[in-house]
Amino acid sequence: MRTTFLVTTFLVGLAASALPAKAAGSLNLICASDVKWCELMERLFEKDHDIDVNMVRMSSGEAYARIRAEARNPKTDLWWAGTGDPHLQAAEDKLTLEYKSPKLAELQPWAQKQAEVSGYRTVGVYSGALGWGYNTQILDKKGLAAPACWKDLTDAKYKGEIQIANPNSSGTAYTALATLVQLMGEDQAFDYLKALNANVTQYTKSGSAPVKAAARGETGIGIVFMHDAVAMTKQGFPVKTVAPCEGTGFEVGSMSIVKGAKNLENAKVFYDWALSAEVQSHAAEADSYQLPSNRTAAVPPEAPKLGEIKLIDYDFAKFGNATTRKSLLERWDREIGASAN
Ligand code: G6P
Repeated sequence: MRTTFLVTTFLVGLAASALPAKAAGSLNLICASDVKWCELMERLFEKDHDIDVNMVRMSSGEAYARIRAEARNPKTDLWWAGTGDPHLQAAEDKLTLEYKSPKLAELQPWAQKQAEVSGYRTVGVYSGALGWGYNTQILDKKGLAAPACWKDLTDAKYKGEIQIANPNSSGTAYTALATLVQLMGEDQAFDYLKALNANVTQYTKSGSAPVKAAARGETGIGIVFMHDAVAMTKQGFPVKTVAPCEGTGFEVGSMSIVKGAKNLENAKVFYDWALSAEVQSHAAEADSYQLPSNRTAAVPPEAPKLGEIKLIDYDFAKFGNATTRKSLLERWDREIGASAN
């Protein structure tokens, strides 16, 4: 009897030690999607795991700056979501860690490409195209036609009716800047931005704030990712979404593990979990209508369909490159930010 007990105990112990240790403890997360989705992810993750998440919401450019500032003694373990360009810059700066998730093979080619381009220091979690949302009631009341093209937005009739974020803090606005440079060439893009500046009332910190302001009736038009405009319509606001006629850029929302993360195993647990079809299928519950990176995740019917939008061949390697991003942001500060209203 006693021998059986000992043998059983030994075997159970052996089996347990062969299993990966159950993750426990905490995870320090920077979340750069819409706050509603951040909170949903935190809740779902804590429900499934014995790990406390300390989450802070930041815009993409701010997240990059924070991780850079923490480089010598990282407090953050994982950076989930936000546009891909600053994640690529962090990869190039070797601020983030190479990691090949067992989930990689389940991802869309654009999400895998994001990983390859970065030497596996980041990976795609969702995608979505840039455009704008406008408040139908405001434009109707003012007798303004809906702008269909980038060139329309510089028309003086929209003076005081446009908001866009600041590309230093916001990945959305950096995507807009990089998109215009790719559509027009750099000098022409800055001429365009100067003309647009005459119509812009505010450069917000967060990328989706402009369309939230349009939804509330504080401005007519918000230049944002199209799915952020769709979210306002879903919430009952009189907002319509536009895909610019000349073509537009898109994001590969990304995720990176911080190099030197104190809770590395927990960061990997979150990383693999966040790439699963099951988890990505929850996004619409938080009014987030991006295209998921896992090929079998549910695509929300509201998600703008990339196949129906005129997309540019966005050069992520170039515009996520540290030198390019730094130089475009410095030029934006000099030529646009310095004279912003
Ligand atoms: C919104 C969008 C995301 C995007 C993010 C970037 O939350 O829904 O798709 O990645 O903005 O935020 P930022 O504030 O950096 O522009």
